[in-house]
Amino acid sequence: MSVVSIFFTALFYISLAIFLIGMTRKIYQYWMTPVPLKIPTAPTPLTQTGVVMRLAREVVLFESLFKSNKWTWLFGWLFHVGLLLVLIRHARYFWPGDLPEIFLLIQPFKYAAFAMVIGLFGLLGRRFFVERIRYISAPSDYLMLLLLLVIGVSGVVMTFTSNHTDVIMVKEFASGLIVFNWADLPTEVHFLVHIFMVFVLMAIFPISKLLHVPGVFFSPTRNQVDDARKKRHISPWALKQEQEHAIKLDQTLGQDSEGK
Ligand code: HEM
Ligand code: HEM
Repeated sequence: MSVVSIFFTALFYISLAIFLIGMTRKIYQYWMTPVPLKIPTAPTPLTQTGVVMRLAREVVLFESLFKSNKWTWLFGWLFHVGLLLVLIRHARYFWPGDLPEIFLLIQPFKYAAFAMVIGLFGLLGRRFFVERIRYISAPSDYLMLLLLLVIGVSGVVMTFTSNHTDVIMVKEFASGLIVFNWADLPTEVHFLVHIFMVFVLMAIFPISKLLHVPGVFFSPTRNQVDDARKKRHISPWALKQEQEHAIKLDQTLGQDSEGK
């Protein structure tokens, strides 16, 4: 194997390890964070099924973003749907062995790259040209968009211009990463830039705003049932305090009655 291939193979596992450990830590932290109050935002779901439906609408349609700003919604939604379809198509590189026929059917998903890139340009334009948004934009807001743009544009260059890369070699390299049967990778600059940025994205995912992916499911304004008037809501820590208090009260009353 060439030095470049060894470097990228090692980088993949390092980024993957950082991604997995970082995400597990973060999700555990979100899981353990006390949620002492009922704070669902209106219109509030009254049942658990209602909460599931609300979260599904939020994840699939970006409902609350739609209500707040149509342009941001349009570019944001285009980008995310494009990204999803592109990633589904990418499974063909990581699939070990012959590809099932379904991969032929999803071949047109490559055009989703344009939705992804147009969405990203729209979101970036918003941060540059809308003064209110420019004022609150931090360097990391630009960084994430630029990273994704470099990945998207280098992908488009490989797929839609004559600067193709050897996709058979890519498949051997990528599926080899999964089954630990390492192989050389193509060395065209746009391909190396493409995957280098992907690995960087994986590594910074657990310390970036991309944590909105697990975060949306832990958002108390979105994931709570509005049953505060039906059921008493007690946080686990408060429940423990309450039990201890009840035991103390029992003991005190017991002593009092013995005294009499
Ligand atoms: C469960 C899946 C996901 C959901 C529900 C989701 C939802 C959202 C929503 C609603 C926004 C708009 C926030 C706002 O501006 O008010 C957003 C922004 C963003 N998302 Fe996601 N997202 C998901 C996955 C991802 C993934 C996998 C990536 C990239 C790898 C990503 C990258 C971004 C970026 C970069 C922004 C910021 C855009 C900007 O500059 O305004 N998202 N996401
Ligand atoms: C290690 C992981 C990845 C590898 C090995 C890889 C490889 C490739 C290759 C070889 C192409 C060109 C396909 C062709 O010529 O037909 C491509 C296209 C593309 N890639 Fe990736 N990629 C990876 C991850 C990603 C990620 C995470 C994203 C998005 C954030 C992405 C976005 C794109 C886009 C938008 C295209 C153009 C559309 C398409 O062909 O589907 N890639 N990628």
